[in-house]
Amino acid sequence: MSSNSTNRHELIEKNAGLLAILIIFAISLGALVEITPLIFQDQTTKPVENLRPYTALEMEGRDIYIRDGCHVCHSQMVRPFRSETERYGHYSVAGESVYEHPFLWGSKRTGPDLARVGGRYSDEWHRAHLMDPRALVPESNMPAFPWLADNLLDGKDTEKKLRLFRDHFGVPYTDEQIANASKEVEGKTEMDAIIAYLQSLGHAMK
Ligand code: HEC
Repeated sequence: MSSNSTNRHELIEKNAGLLAILIIFAISLGALVEITPLIFQDQTTKPVENLRPYTALEMEGRDIYIRDGCHVCHSQMVRPFRSETERYGHYSVAGESVYEHPFLWGSKRTGPDLARVGGRYSDEWHRAHLMDPRALVPESNMPAFPWLADNLLDGKDTEKKLRLFRDHFGVPYTDEQIANASKEVEGKTEMDAIIAYLQSLGHAMK
């Protein structure tokens, strides 16, 4: 066997540098083929039909969710497996997250996934649960967050937050929504805000 093609193959196999370069080339090509379409596909870049931006109160709630580390124990990403969809509902789709900056998908689940928790419990349930999780779920190891009920929102930065999301991330807030943002949250507690946020999760796929 001394055909031309065998020689070329030998050349690659006996030359580690060339082999490495060709491996990197092959992997890069594969990655390009996999990733490039995602950047242009409507399915991953366009909001799903019923998606609306967070209200001012929900936006403040989301910031408290991040500040108090809820995302450290809770993911917001239902994976497309039967064990997950039976428990939580429809798996998460990319179009639900186009207004999320940063997204809070996560992968660490000390507690349940929250991507579809909106509407599952009453506001009163959430209030009681956040004040004292073990009052409702005796085996819970979730910490209590009682200060949320005492802290009032001042709305000082709310307008700026919405404006930032519109101007930098293209979230379609109207001028009116931005102008009313601070007024909307004034006098509300952090508890009101985080519950509004929790109740909004998954709204577009209901
Ligand atoms: C140390 C980990 C931990 C942190 C931090 C945490 N949780 Fe939890 N959470 C849990 C666990 C465990 C459960 C399941 C038991 C229960 O319902 O209390 C849970 C349950 C929940 C549930 C009920 C979900 C369902 O489908 O039944 C909600 C809502 C929730 N947490 C919201 C929050 C919010 C909001 C925060 C932040 C203010 C937070 N959690 C912080 C661990 C945590």
